[in-house]
Amino acid sequence: MHWQPIGAESVLFLSPRSDFAPGKPIRGGIPVIFPWFGPRTANALSARTDGPAHGFARTEDWTVAFAALAGDDLHLTLTLAPNEASRALGFGDFQLALEFILGGELRLRLSVANTGTTPFAFEEALHTYLRVGDATQISISGFLNTEYLDKTDHLARKLQTEDPIRLTSETDRPYLNTAATISLTDPALHRSLTVAKANSQTTVLWNPWSTKSATMPDMTPEAWLHMCCIETANAADNRITLAPQQAHTMEAHIIIAPLDS
Ligand code: BG6
Repeated sequence: MHWQPIGAESVLFLSPRSDFAPGKPIRGGIPVIFPWFGPRTANALSARTDGPAHGFARTEDWTVAFAALAGDDLHLTLTLAPNEASRALGFGDFQLALEFILGGELRLRLSVANTGTTPFAFEEALHTYLRVGDATQISISGFLNTEYLDKTDHLARKLQTEDPIRLTSETDRPYLNTAATISLTDPALHRSLTVAKANSQTTVLWNPWSTKSATMPDMTPEAWLHMCCIETANAADNRITLAPQQAHTMEAHIIIAPLDS
């Protein structure tokens, strides 16, 4: 929910109206999206479409498996195993581990293991809510010539032709087949944020703008101005299928730099 290196402004957005209640996702920080992204859709391994938006991992209680300081960095590992709720949704053969290294930079590694005897298909995202000074002033680069699904236009497939991107309305785009590093320039907070990644082929760019955020009870009227999600993911065309007893690790790395004056 929060990461603020010494001498820096807070990096993650957290809505002042976020719910903090069992079963409700937190509106901010870095919710962990697993095992499906958005609404559950049928796939080659399962015809089921039931379950909460963005999967169950973000509303489950995780276990703190490791926590220690290494110099100035905090190393933290959280784990999630199947439970009654996940089994009821058809997910009984996985293990998740989320490692954080929190310091002057932020590193996240999400590992998924298939502990079963059949292939396991899933989607995943580190749904990173970056805090920005003014979303109407930021510019985002790294998506040029990348194909995306426009969720504000019936999932139409489009090609990114402008760079950098300036937000001017609701923006909801899984960019596909991209391992690119994204940089967000934030003149109001006088900094840039860089999101680099590994073993991730999807990056989601999301800002609900005033229009959608007016329909979201866990946002204040102005909160959308202070967030921009850049989500390290494997979703849609980039869904992962793991063979039995195999694991997959996705990494995100966030770096802050001051803007040249
Ligand atoms: C984004 C999706 O990742 O998350 C959007 O692309 C969605 O479509 C947003 O609206 C927030 O989802 P939720 O379930 O947290 O309201």
